[in-house]
Amino acid sequence: MTTPHNIESVLKENRVFPPSEAFSQQAHIKSLDEYKALYKKSIDEPEVFWAEQAEAVHWFKKWDKVLDWNLPDAKWFINATTNASYNCLDRHLTGPRRNKAALIWEGEPGDSATLTYQQLHREVCIMANVLKKYGITKGDRVIIYMPMIPEAAVAMLACARIGAPHSVVFGGFGAEALKERINDSGAKVMITADGGFRRGKIVQLKPNADTAAEGTPALEKVLVVQRTKQDVSMKEGRDFWWHDERKTVSDKCEAEQLDSEHPLYILYTSGSTGKPKGIQHTTGGYLVGTTLTTKYVFDLKDEDIYFCTADIGWVTGHSYVVYGVLSNGGTSLMYEGAPDTPNPDRWWDIIAKYKVNILYTAPTAVRAFIKWGDDWPKKHDLSSLRLLGSVGEPINPEAWMWYYNVIGGGRCPIVDTWWQTETGAHMITPLPGATPLKPGSGSLPFFGVDAAIVDDDGKEVPANAGGKLVIRKPWPSMLRTIYKDHDRFVNTYWSEVPGVYLAGDGARRDEDGYFWIVGRIDDVLNVAGHRLGTSEVESALVSHPAVAEAAAVGRPDELKGQALVVFITLKVGVPPTDALKKELRDHVAREIGPIARPDDIRFAEGLPKTRSGKIMRRILKDIAAGAQVKGDVTTMEDLNVVAKLSASSGDE
Ligand code: WT7
Repeated sequence: MTTPHNIESVLKENRVFPPSEAFSQQAHIKSLDEYKALYKKSIDEPEVFWAEQAEAVHWFKKWDKVLDWNLPDAKWFINATTNASYNCLDRHLTGPRRNKAALIWEGEPGDSATLTYQQLHREVCIMANVLKKYGITKGDRVIIYMPMIPEAAVAMLACARIGAPHSVVFGGFGAEALKERINDSGAKVMITADGGFRRGKIVQLKPNADTAAEGTPALEKVLVVQRTKQDVSMKEGRDFWWHDERKTVSDKCEAEQLDSEHPLYILYTSGSTGKPKGIQHTTGGYLVGTTLTTKYVFDLKDEDIYFCTADIGWVTGHSYVVYGVLSNGGTSLMYEGAPDTPNPDRWWDIIAKYKVNILYTAPTAVRAFIKWGDDWPKKHDLSSLRLLGSVGEPINPEAWMWYYNVIGGGRCPIVDTWWQTETGAHMITPLPGATPLKPGSGSLPFFGVDAAIVDDDGKEVPANAGGKLVIRKPWPSMLRTIYKDHDRFVNTYWSEVPGVYLAGDGARRDEDGYFWIVGRIDDVLNVAGHRLGTSEVESALVSHPAVAEAAAVGRPDELKGQALVVFITLKVGVPPTDALKKELRDHVAREIGPIARPDDIRFAEGLPKTRSGKIMRRILKDIAAGAQVKGDVTTMEDLNVVAKLSASSGDE
């Protein structure tokens, strides 16, 4: 796709927050100079650098060669053998960590559990033996369709232990999405639960699994964890209860010595259109990437309690609830339910109760909390927090400031981590003891990440010019293929700009080398010949005190090419008036210039989002154009939102 102009960047953010001396002194990486020296080495001598860093992982056998790079196919740590489950469990069992909490879990109804490394190891061995009993061996795929309960992590680590690539399907997906993933992966076994708790209701996992299983000929066995204790049907010969099966096997199970390139998992990610892509990750490189980023980006220490709010159905849950944290011997806190159950302060309650030190969440959640008001967090003692993280979308600078001040008490660095399901681990991110922070910027590339901004011809653009974000060197945790569709892998990521990895995001790099993501390339607005990223217009709107959340899309317009339509949710208690619409238009024009003055402002109770919290702008595009909503909506969080938006459209 070629377009006449490159993306323009219009929003300027000048605030800078250097790390405090106290934080830097205790951090793993203590200064920008230290980061720069290591970064330079990682780019100049990548194989030397990665060979040193790979020592953070346990290997049964070391590599003959660090990297085999045959664009776009990378192999890392050639002929080495390792095991993710061993790295996350066994290697911590010989010292004091054996008795340390690996997982702290809180259920939505208020029940809780703690599993030490020793206990988690035992559970994993037992489940691995149940899988073996079902005939699962190295290379067989296993589907995991679970609520956020400890057994979800147990299931992942049990698969990893025996070399069976897992494919976790988000528990919020229904039978159709599940069936498609079971069939595409060719899984013989599924691990699920009777149900899970979410917003006080039961998520009907087993009934969905039953419906899905009607159309999955290769699926042989279903292992069911009892969580809600609701009545579910169990099919004779196919379905088995975990609490029964665990009694039939031994609690000893050696971890398989797997080739570094052995697939650890397949995770389906739905592009905006088309069939979901089975992103395939390997064992060795992925472990190196997640282990190192967890240590340096979250500055993780043995005494930390770390809370990542992502579901294990997303890559964030894979890399930063399970693998990266446990590989470092950390304590990972898992919460089953919704942030507003029973009240919009559930997370703050959890943080105070367990004295959480590190919180990692998404901008969509931060904006929801802003909308619900400051009183909820202010009721709780959040002084245990020392570091905050953000992932999933660009965080609007005003949302960043709120997170920094209201949640972090002005004391905690925020690591705004840019990465993707495909990248496996953080790619562009601050290191909290080293990097001066700029609200809204993911800042600088992580070690070994050769990121650049290029124009439509693939040429690097000057500072502050917008363009496409690409990665020019392979990195250990990169995806290796799209499962059973290598051509699609080549076409999606390696073809539009020859020789480099195309992330699909628009971005600019400022005069200090900081990266600013301006939105997905597919969502770019084209207003009177100017190509604008969505996030800058949205951030300008979110900087107005009445606005909680905003989404900008283009609508075909004879005169301008595209007219700018913005959908807005207001903070609780703010009335949606015409005067406010005018004020918001003027506000955007003032903040970023008259070209970005919205043509049409629509107030909405909620915006359509993916289940992982990203705004679905393509749906809003259809609504803005007055068209029927097209394309796949199975990943949408709440279909009612669309019905409401469509019904209220055209009120101008
Ligand atoms: C896309 C990847 C990576 C785990 C969760 C999402 C957007 C992600 C940031 C960030 C700006 C971000 C990008 C990216 N994104 N993190 N810190 N700043 N944008 O994984 O579903 O694979 O989505 O999310 O657009 O390409 P994913």
